[in-house]
Amino acid sequence: MKVIQTIAEMRKLRQRLLEPVGFVPTMGYLHEGHLTLVRKAKEKNASAVVSIFVNPTQFGPQEDFEKYPRDTERDLAMLKTAKTDAVFMPSAEEMYPANSVTWVDVKKITEHLEGAARPGHFRGVATVVAKLFNIVQPDRAYFGQKDAQQVLVVKRMVADLNMNIEVIAVPTVREPDGLAMSSRNIYLNPEQRKAATVLYRALNHVLELWSEGERNPARLRRHMLDVLRSEPLAVVEYVSVADPETLEEMETAKPGGLVSMAVRVGKTRLIDNMVLELKPRLLPD
Ligand code: PAF
Repeated sequence: MKVIQTIAEMRKLRQRLLEPVGFVPTMGYLHEGHLTLVRKAKEKNASAVVSIFVNPTQFGPQEDFEKYPRDTERDLAMLKTAKTDAVFMPSAEEMYPANSVTWVDVKKITEHLEGAARPGHFRGVATVVAKLFNIVQPDRAYFGQKDAQQVLVVKRMVADLNMNIEVIAVPTVREPDGLAMSSRNIYLNPEQRKAATVLYRALNHVLELWSEGERNPARLRRHMLDVLRSEPLAVVEYVSVADPETLEEMETAKPGGLVSMAVRVGKTRLIDNMVLELKPRLLPD
């Protein structure tokens, strides 16, 4: 496994990598969810490249950039086990030189959900992903469905900017009790960790109602809120039943609809989602 720290080295290596190249951009502090993306990239491509870069431009001024968990040694060991071909770990100075003034700003779909709650977040995400795509030049790129809006934003950017990259969303990987895997779960103390399962319980409840034929988004949202509010440690930021293309709230819940939520447990902000399916399947216990 090659570990690369400069853009020039990455470009040089790219010329020698077997094609097609699968790419998994990450901010490190890896977990099974990331490794699933790497395995998918390995399965479908001749080479797999992973980037580790805690991207400062996607964090708001009051957010956790400084204390975002980092453990490069552990990450590299995990990536080696997953048979990653190359890891790209650029510096912030090289990714964002002082004279850099260009941003990628995906409009409209970023006005809702995470975009509304975290102004500027998706401008930072789209910009860094575009830069990483330009440097790594992958054929396919893999993203976790846990960040459903991020997947849509990246797909929109790729389509609008005519990038020749296939963007693949990979289903959310969950802990045995249903909590979606996230590097930020490390912030939760044992009591909060237990409370955090409420997101999964709320999704399951919506799924049950949807399976029974409930199609009223306001009622689905209210039931989600009821479950979330039954957990004293959970503070709800939003619940949503949105159109999967525009991310506007749906008037009637339809297959493909994106059910999502953001909830604070203590100081930790958690998100989760599911897609309403034509033939609903219960989430695993
Ligand atoms: O999902 C993430 O970890 C980040 O948003 C990404 C895609 C690596 C961009 O910094």
